[in-house]
Amino acid sequence: MRELPAPYRLARSPAHEAASLAERHEAGECLSHTLSPDELAQFKKLKVPKRRRDWLAGRLAAKKLLLEMLAERGREARPHELPILNRKDGAPYLAFPWEGEPAPFLSLSHAPSGAVAAAVAGGRRIGVDAEAVAERPEAFVTVFAHPSERAGLRSAHDQTRLWTLKESVLKLLCLGLSVDLWDVRFLEADPQRLELHGRALACWESLGRPAIRVESRPSEHEVLSLAYTGETP
Ligand SMILES: CC(C)(COP(=O)(O)OP(=O)(O)OC[C@H]1O[C@@H](n2cnc3c(N)ncnc32)[C@H](O)[C@@H]1OP(=O)(O)O)[C@@H](O)C(=O)NCCC(=O)NCCS
Repeated sequence: MRELPAPYRLARSPAHEAASLAERHEAGECLSHTLSPDELAQFKKLKVPKRRRDWLAGRLAAKKLLLEMLAERGREARPHELPILNRKDGAPYLAFPWEGEPAPFLSLSHAPSGAVAAAVAGGRRIGVDAEAVAERPEAFVTVFAHPSERAGLRSAHDQTRLWTLKESVLKLLCLGLSVDLWDVRFLEADPQRLELHGRALACWESLGRPAIRVESRPSEHEVLSLAYTGETP
């Protein structure tokens, strides 16, 4: 996976890693070397096997990334010492002191090939979303794509790209799908022409109107999109 320019970071945990850990847990292995007590309590509440694997994959990707970031600061930790919890609105956060500055801003996404974690320290934000490429039903496209965006949607890749771009911006704003998807709009589905409306606009204004850049990384079966605040990349 292509690296992000500093200070933004990206890591992936392939689906088989979490599947194998979940299987070992089923077979009686304790996950306390990987998960904190709060995470273990959260994991035990998840009943649907796919959700358990996705949730675990997200934690594995995030911990991998955060351990690397800590090592670069000359610090060490073990995976279970880095709890990745969720705020009430669902947004993930690291409950671990980062020394001298707020903990990195985290974003997670679960895709069929595995989980992706993105992080950035220094008060910036990042949002990531990865989805399998698929043709969306017309009714669904109407809900997520504003009329001004629809002419730009010529293929399943275009639809998936627009969907993931919107989700990455909504994750950066910590809004998730709690807002109208038309409130994050890319004129003519062009990633360079982001417009915010309604609650998305109000949230962005409350953050001090930071510049938001986006990018999409399409592959044959999946599209990964990222939204960043700050000057680079
Ligand atoms: C964020 C959201 C758009 C992602 O949808 P998705 O494409 O199905 O899922 P993805 O795999 O791409 O992303 C899921 C991750 O997004 C993150 N996320 C959830 N809500 C978020 C929010 N408001 N802001 C930023 N990130 C959020 C979480 O880390 C989640 O993974 P986790 O639950 O394993 O920690 C959607 O889950 C959402 O709107 N959630 C908000 C509602 C909600 O679930 N609230 C929880 C109340 S307890």
